Amino acid sequence: MLPKRRRAPVGSPGCPASSGARFPGVAIYLAEPRMGRSRRAFLTRLALSKGFRVLDAYSPEVTHVVMEKTSAEEASCWQELRVAAGSIPGHTSPAMLDISWFTDSMAAGEPVAVEPRHRLEVAMPGKEVPGLVWMPQYACQCPTPLTHHNPNLTEPLEMLAEAAGFEGSEGRFLSFRRAASVLKALPSQVTAPNQLQGLPHFGEHSYRVVQEVLARGVCEEVERIRCSERYQTMKLFTGIFGVGVKTADRWYREGLRTLNSLQEQSQRLTQQQKAGLRHYQDLSAPVQWPEVEALQQVVEAAVGHILPGATITLVGGFRRGKLQGHDVDFLITHPQEGREAGLLPRVMHRLESQGLVLYHQHHHGHCADATCPSRHNHAMDSFEMTFCVFCLPPPPGAAVGGTQRAVRVDLVVVPVSQFPYALLGWTGSKVKGMLLGPGQGLWSVAPIQPCFPQHFQRELRRFSRKERGLWLNSHGLFDPQQKKHFHAASEEDIFRHLGLEYLPPEQRNA
Ligand code: CTP
Ligand code: MN
Ligand code: MN
Repeated sequence: MLPKRRRAPVGSPGCPASSGARFPGVAIYLAEPRMGRSRRAFLTRLALSKGFRVLDAYSPEVTHVVMEKTSAEEASCWQELRVAAGSIPGHTSPAMLDISWFTDSMAAGEPVAVEPRHRLEVAMPGKEVPGLVWMPQYACQCPTPLTHHNPNLTEPLEMLAEAAGFEGSEGRFLSFRRAASVLKALPSQVTAPNQLQGLPHFGEHSYRVVQEVLARGVCEEVERIRCSERYQTMKLFTGIFGVGVKTADRWYREGLRTLNSLQEQSQRLTQQQKAGLRHYQDLSAPVQWPEVEALQQVVEAAVGHILPGATITLVGGFRRGKLQGHDVDFLITHPQEGREAGLLPRVMHRLESQGLVLYHQHHHGHCADATCPSRHNHAMDSFEMTFCVFCLPPPPGAAVGGTQRAVRVDLVVVPVSQFPYALLGWTGSKVKGMLLGPGQGLWSVAPIQPCFPQHFQRELRRFSRKERGLWLNSHGLFDPQQKKHFHAASEEDIFRHLGLEYLPPEQRNA
């Protein structure tokens, strides 16, 4: 069991934000970036004590955004990122104010009228910000929506990242990834190279690629790699369930090029790889929403039959709002801690007896004690989980002769006390084309690697460690100095404790 909450979440108003507010027309949001967590918490308490309404998260209700040590341009970027990310649809913009409005209002004991000197000059959303200069340092500090304004530029950069990953070049892999990630968070389309000026994490090579794509529509280097035998083969092999970069590279160096050539050497393949090859075609076709719903139903029925009261929750890309995915990820838990133990083998047994399972590989949970310090040295989650290939019957309305289809499914069993952390961790996003094979070290938290910003979870963990001195993983948030775990009741709790603005799953597509 995680210890119960030992300290109040810093930055939390401590009482429902709406209760007792004396000034109903005013909802303040204190923006973190330059303020810092403890000062934000202090100002929040101050305002609440005077009867102001302070919102924890940025939402359409916010009427006054208060920033500190922030220029008009920075405020403009901050706001545009949120408008562009669609986090406040159809919402009239709140006033963007300097801390002076806040202090004046606190002194007056009521919201003072906004004077020009309080205002941060904010460009209208959509108006071009020349030389966009301010992006937060960590991807978890700003919303990244699923669809963005620069797919023509991120696609070639991500392809180069993937190709670098195939060559085992982690440095290049990460620098292309982070350049692409920055472009995804931009509020508008980049149409000229000078708009990249001042953007963080933009190396010379990425800059050159963007420049060429903008000028000519394509980048020669990218297209050359895309067509190369090496890239094509590595892409083919790593696309097999159970095959990582190392294995694919070894096969390539042995001269293997096709799936047939692998089949001929099937005695060398693991059970997982054999299943991957057997179902290659099905597994390489993206999973669609109706299939997700069908799977959710059968898993829910099996779980409910074995352990009434247990719940299943869709996570992974589909929870982030993706329309397609390479697999379907579910968390299973029970409101009474401990009841979930031993559930998974029984669920799998039932699903197998229904003819729904084509392959599964069980991973036993270990170190069930969440306070165990070594938990934070484990490369992988310690949950009980199974990586499966399910057999989906044809949908009821399908044409006669509609066939069954194989789909990858991950099932993870989580003790309820760790559920918010597992939900956060398994919602992602993660990096495609990691250097590691499936199930290998994706989730390493200690020691953290130096400054490779891109995917959301990696960024969140890096932020926790470097900015807050806390270790975050799918099991908990640990303070190594005080040797304490922070109990969280929700994902919002975790963001709040880290002093970060809450970002809903659909804004975690970094
Ligand atoms: N994950 C994890 N431990 C693993 C495997 C995955 O914590 N052993 C996490 C990943 O880091 C990711 C989430 O679970 O955050 C979902 O992983 P995955 O299914 O691989 O990616 P998706 O984001 O769901 O994308 P896709 O649509 O390709 O499945
Ligand atoms: Mn997934
Ligand atoms: Mn998965």
